[in-house]
Amino acid sequence: MKPLLQLALDETSLENAYKVLDSGVDEIVDIIECGTVLLAAEGKDAIIKLRERYPDRKLVCDFKIADSGRVQASLFLQGKPDYLTVICSAHNKTKKAVVDTINENNLSCEVQLELYGNWTFEDVKQWKEIGINHVVLHHSVDEKGPWTTGEIDIARKLCEEDINVTVTGGINLDTIELFKGLPIFCIIAGRSIRTADNPVLEAQKMKDMINSIWAN
Ligand code: 5RP
Repeated sequence: MKPLLQLALDETSLENAYKVLDSGVDEIVDIIECGTVLLAAEGKDAIIKLRERYPDRKLVCDFKIADSGRVQASLFLQGKPDYLTVICSAHNKTKKAVVDTINENNLSCEVQLELYGNWTFEDVKQWKEIGINHVVLHHSVDEKGPWTTGEIDIARKLCEEDINVTVTGGINLDTIELFKGLPIFCIIAGRSIRTADNPVLEAQKMKDMINSIWAN
């Protein structure tokens, strides 16, 4: 399994997000993420407008829903995202409300659970029962240091749970190799691509790095 590459658009306006995408990065990455920051700035219009621009691309709506699952899911699903994020600390009824809202509307959208703070591998079993089979393991953007061996071990253990595992937070060209040997579903990169001198080149280098690390 070769990880996909996702671009996290944590820009403070759609105008800025378009500037990044129009550099040509949109052609290179596999998934475009409407980031939490962009949703905070522009609301649900951000995902609706990205969908209008990219009718055939994989889109993530990363609001990290915490409560009022049905209402919030209904708003973001107007943008027809392929993936919708919910925070792991949300009540299980909130998680189920999001899954139910997708299913009742016959939409093709997968819930991703964002792993922050306290959770256990017992919780993973319950999430699967609710119908959530995809987690996003975070190294917080507010954390200064690199991924620790403990965090990589958690990623490895999650991969053994027969669920999709996406990793994110401070990942760049030099740190992709930390995940070597793991069947990671997707690697998310935000700042390392968006703030590079040449975002297109950086994204292409990351794709090439993924291809070479997961060559066999
Ligand atoms: C934070 C996020 C970020 O989009 C994601 O972690 C990307 O981070 P970085 O810019 O460090 O690559 O979900 O809420």
